[in-house]
Amino acid sequence: MRAVDLGCLEGGYSVELAKMGFDTLGIEARQENIDKCNFVKENLGLQNLHFAMDDVRNLPKYDKFEVNICYGLLYHLNDPVAFLKTVSECTTKILLLNTHFAPDRDLRYELGHLNRYVIAPIQKRAKALAPQQNYRLSPMTTNEGYAGRWFREWSKTAGKAKIEKMLWASYNNNRSFWLRKKDQTKVLHDVGFGSVFEQFDYTGDIAPDNYTSRHSRTMFVAIKH
Ligand SMILES: C[S@@+](CC[C@H](N)C(=O)[O-])C[C@H]1O[C@@H](n2cnc3c(N)ncnc32)[C@H](O)[C@@H]1O
Repeated sequence: MRAVDLGCLEGGYSVELAKMGFDTLGIEARQENIDKCNFVKENLGLQNLHFAMDDVRNLPKYDKFEVNICYGLLYHLNDPVAFLKTVSECTTKILLLNTHFAPDRDLRYELGHLNRYVIAPIQKRAKALAPQQNYRLSPMTTNEGYAGRWFREWSKTAGKAKIEKMLWASYNNNRSFWLRKKDQTKVLHDVGFGSVFEQFDYTGDIAPDNYTSRHSRTMFVAIKH
């Protein structure tokens, strides 16, 4: 079976998939990250482990995969719906989607500059004052026909060298759209996944029980029928 790891960073999940026996491809946009992936590949000698330096939006170039791992990536895109359509076309069995989602209601995100420049910096320093993480999101709006909030990744004027150095950030878009949770599940259905589940134990015992509500982040498991 073929597996793809989207936005694979240093290739950790790709390695584990290859060790499990999947013919694995990790796709990653940044040169520094892909160099680390290739260093790992050389040292492990896994013949079924491959990496490509590319924008994940070019996924169809690499054909179809039974298993699709999309961790920490979707919320770095400004076109998550178009991308999930692409993902669906390229996935024949299962998608594991670990992602942030936009909280339905959060007064802080209605306050614009007041939140960005006053409340968020205070909450960053005094974490006890923020039971829910403050991501400085926009008010609720729509994008590609679904509800969610915008997240600013980097300044429009940032140079290529600076963007290359932001090893965990978005690549070809300076802001990202976080879908509202119920819109996220609706999109997964609409693009062709017959069943969509939420996995509640994906953090195991390495994160506190309130991880999902505190970080507006969860794991979806989407199955092709
Ligand atoms: C937050 S990290 C997540 C890494 C890993 N998947 C994980 O869950 O630990 C996001 C990764 O996606 C990569 N990335 C962001 N936008 C991308 C794009 N459009 N195409 C390919 N990779 C991208 C980043 O360079 C970074 O390695």
